Amino acid sequence: MRRKLAAGNWKMNGTGAALGALEAIAAAHPAPSVDILICPPATLLSRAAHALADSAVDLGGQDCHAETSGAHTGDISAAMLADAGARAVILGHSERRADHAETDAQVCAKTRAALEAGLMAVVCIGETLEQREAGQTLDVVCGQLAASLPDGIDGARVVVAYEPVWAIGTGKVPTLEQIAEVHDALRGQLLGRFGAETGSAIRLLYGGSVKPGNAAEIFAVSNVDGALVGGASLNAADFSPIIRAL
Ligand code: G3H
Repeated sequence: MRRKLAAGNWKMNGTGAALGALEAIAAAHPAPSVDILICPPATLLSRAAHALADSAVDLGGQDCHAETSGAHTGDISAAMLADAGARAVILGHSERRADHAETDAQVCAKTRAALEAGLMAVVCIGETLEQREAGQTLDVVCGQLAASLPDGIDGARVVVAYEPVWAIGTGKVPTLEQIAEVHDALRGQLLGRFGAETGSAIRLLYGGSVKPGNAAEIFAVSNVDGALVGGASLNAADFSPIIRAL
């Protein structure tokens, strides 16, 4: 049985003043029945790890380099994230694919690096509006999934987040049938490629305009094991009801 996961992606939001929001989320869920992961900016990781040391909330990064060290100005390795207190890292978010032209092959290499550093990898995939309207959604997301995951993975440490690009930060959400269609296809692909044990252990998150008002119905959809939440993960008033809906 896969344990549910509520993951928050703070994106490029939050300075030291935001640690209070992290503490409020942790305080609201001292013994959660689901996993909680928050990925603040890398600049906050060490302080957040200190502030949440005794909490049930795990911390994660939002990207890492595929190499362990070297001449890569401005980049952060998976081992550095782990050293700063991260237990996980988001990889291949559509904003990184768009802003930094990240390819599936790069995401795959980063995923391998994250797993080698002992992190859980949260690998993001999703179609654009143009691709959905052209009827290419399943081809796009299944292609991204195939090329973004390395072979020989530990399913318990890999999470896949389906995030339609057009649903991120827009208030638009696919229908429940559309979410189910994609998640069922992804599960089928994972089972086919990795076998029953690994393929059924990988958690599938939905992401894109998840709010307190729509979380419960999304979490009831087949093969939805949780959510990757952006804007609504920035404060306890919004994120706590989403966590409780899981
Ligand atoms: O990683 C999170 C997603 O991009 C969703 O963001 O909840 O603000 O739409 P959002």
